[in-house]
Amino acid sequence: MLAGCLAREASFNTFFSEFHTMNIIGICGSLRQKSINHFALEAAAKAMPTGMSLRILSIKDVPLYNQDVQSAGFPAAVQSLAQEILKADGVLIASPEYNFSYSGVLKNALDWWSRMDPAPFKHKPVAILSATGGPLGGARSQYDLRKVLSGGLEALVLQRPEIFIGMAQNKFGADGALNDEATVKMLETQMQAFQAWIQKLSPKA
Ligand SMILES: Cc1cc2nc3c(=O)[nH]c(=O)nc-3n(C[C@H](O)[C@H](O)[C@H](O)COP(=O)(O)O)c2cc1C
Repeated sequence: MLAGCLAREASFNTFFSEFHTMNIIGICGSLRQKSINHFALEAAAKAMPTGMSLRILSIKDVPLYNQDVQSAGFPAAVQSLAQEILKADGVLIASPEYNFSYSGVLKNALDWWSRMDPAPFKHKPVAILSATGGPLGGARSQYDLRKVLSGGLEALVLQRPEIFIGMAQNKFGADGALNDEATVKMLETQMQAFQAWIQKLSPKA
């Protein structure tokens, strides 16, 4: 009887995973129009394996965190993004490095979401990447972001592969297209690992 139930559940999971597209939300830590991190998110969308799709949402309307405002009610932009994150199978974050850390606008949005119940990032699979004009590709910033996501927001952050896109101005065209084959391959590898990570954490996804 138990074996029959388990077999039925396993075949349901296989069926579900074959037909369910993983819905990933992309968040960019830069608000500028020609952001290379935004371009990197678009390149990651193209690098995703079958069964994954990315929707990039902007944090530009998230106001500065203020506990008085929170006490009066979470702002609409904070709430609507939180709802999207809660519904998503995973979140992909790309942020520039600002002064050896990740951007303030991203930290501000994470601070808002950290105060919400239900907590949108709690146990949420997350992958991160960064692109900069310098050679290190934002490597110094990612450990701050990992710390805040894992410790503060209880997200489940993919450990490897890490993606640091250095000298990014030479890799993306003016139209935002990624022209560097090695970076395309890195993104493909990370997106496959992210899919496997989500599958492992929530086998029905
Ligand atoms: C305030 C500020 C601080 C920056 N600090 C760093 C830094 O610490 N390390 C780095 O590699 N690049 C740094 N940069 C350069 C950014 O990484 C670069 O401008 C990048 O293109 C920004 O990402 P975006 O194109 O997605 O907006 C800084 C840029 C700004 C505006």
